[in-house]
Amino acid sequence: MAMEFDLKGRRVLITGAGQGVGRGIAHGFAAAGAQVVVNDLFTDRAQEVADELAATGAAALACPFDVTDYAAVAAAVDELGGVDILVNNAGNAGADGWTGLAKFVDTTPDQWEPFLRVNLYGVLYCARATLPSMIAKGWGRIVTIISDAGRTGEANMAAYCTAKAGAAGLTRALAIENGRHGITVNNISLGTMRTRETGTIWADPDNPTAKSMLARYVVRRPGLPEDAAALAVFLASEQASWITGQTCPLNGGISFAQ
Ligand SMILES: NC(=O)c1ccc[n+]([C@@H]2O[C@H](COP(=O)([O-])OP(=O)(O)OC[C@H]3O[C@@H](n4cnc5c(N)ncnc54)[C@H](O)[C@@H]3O)[C@@H](O)[C@H]2O)c1
Repeated sequence: MAMEFDLKGRRVLITGAGQGVGRGIAHGFAAAGAQVVVNDLFTDRAQEVADELAATGAAALACPFDVTDYAAVAAAVDELGGVDILVNNAGNAGADGWTGLAKFVDTTPDQWEPFLRVNLYGVLYCARATLPSMIAKGWGRIVTIISDAGRTGEANMAAYCTAKAGAAGLTRALAIENGRHGITVNNISLGTMRTRETGTIWADPDNPTAKSMLARYVVRRPGLPEDAAALAVFLASEQASWITGQTCPLNGGISFAQ
């Protein structure tokens, strides 16, 4: 069996790939030979990453839409004529910024909404829109980026934890329903990542936030988009066809899967 992850002939849709972890995942899929559909809410971000990929010789196109708008998701996937692989990466607090970070008892329902919309409804919508083409082909992959916050819990982030845990549950249900169609569905549970956008925290080795975070990681470094790309490409590969319904921690050992 070849141990190179070859995704030539596969089309992957990566949501929220205009920056951060998603951008790294897009580069990973491009390197594996897939045609990469770069989604983001912001057209300029999606286009910039699609251009970066095209400059490496990869087949890439920008496909901006809002994952929290089901009609927009369905229309975009319809126009694409379906995809083989979906990476649900758009997340965090969506476009609204990290507002509403407080003890649950001090928050109100309107503060939970942005987290639930992008991290849970966005995943439901994208899975619903893309599964029919995968079922028709008898092959497909869905990889959902969740967070250790959703697996182990985190203070002051109850709505985010809830949404990520919900998305993880969806993965298991979809794995059961769709395994017979050659479709695998898995989660990647991330620890703290160093991206271009969060780089300033990590640039200064004496930054107290960075120091206290790293002390909790067995491997004393933050995760990189390349780490997420490697696991996502593997889960999408032929070689991972017997892995489904799983949550794979990618977290430098801050917590372990049982
Ligand atoms: N960065 C971390 O430390 C970390 C840790 C654990 C989990 N995660 C998860 O990893 C994923 C990526 O995180 P990141 O830090 O790279 O995020 P980021 O905020 O840097 O980038 C997310 C991208 O998604 C886009 N986006 C937001 N809402 C959207 C919507 N409704 N429709 C389409 N696109 C939308 C944004 O425009 C942005 O370009 C998220 O699901 C996040 O929850 C990140």
